Amino acid sequence: MKWEIVDDYEALSISGAHRLLAALDANPRIVLGLPTGKTPEGMYARVVRECGVSRHCFEEVTTFNLDEYVGLAPDHPSSYATYMRKHLFDHVDIDPANINLPDGLAARIGEEDPRHGNEEALLRECRRYEQAIARAGGLQLTFLGLGTNGHIAFNEPGTPFDARTRVVELTESTKAANAPYFRDQTPPDRAITMGIATILDSREIVLLASGEKKRAAVERLRGGEVTTDFPASALHHHPRVTVIVDRSAAGD
Ligand code: PGA
Repeated sequence: MKWEIVDDYEALSISGAHRLLAALDANPRIVLGLPTGKTPEGMYARVVRECGVSRHCFEEVTTFNLDEYVGLAPDHPSSYATYMRKHLFDHVDIDPANINLPDGLAARIGEEDPRHGNEEALLRECRRYEQAIARAGGLQLTFLGLGTNGHIAFNEPGTPFDARTRVVELTESTKAANAPYFRDQTPPDRAITMGIATILDSREIVLLASGEKKRAAVERLRGGEVTTDFPASALHHHPRVTVIVDRSAAGD
């Protein structure tokens, strides 16, 4: 695991954006794993600024988001599909056919079919997502945020490292962290998330952590103990991980 400690959030955003843009330059047909949340917003803003529509950066790129809430339509203001359009997809030349997020409304697919309940439809969606990643040739570069409880994507503490894309219950701390994104509504209880094994299959991984809030989690990751109590520690098993943290998260 390589560590890059930068001065502040701006430097973290610049470094993340440079890594992403360099990867696009090296392979214009790259398959990316992409996060949502507060942390990558600055990185996406940089990428959009540097790339713009004119540079054709994303013309042949394929993306898979880490997760999506169960029950939210792609046009719901708090869905991750909306987040991605707002922060990246609406501002670059990506082909909509190459954008992939789990379908938060998959549960509805089974409604009219008495043989397959909603839960079965959700499971099918999880399998479909894994298969779509495999059909695209696998993730080549995946960016991650870090939860204060050590989660990566929505893999909460206790998740086995061999977990793949599935439906998860969100912890109270994660729901509280996400509450500001849901002004008139309590955050959904469940999400579809890539599993830890799905993420570890990515050829390269970049994890971003910023701010004092993340200090305890960053310290635990630096400590090196590998335990399912702390999902991000699974990354110690991966040969090509870079962690970019700013000084307030690193505590030094
Ligand atoms: P944040 O979320 O970027 O909003 O802090 C990170 C995460 O929970 O994975």
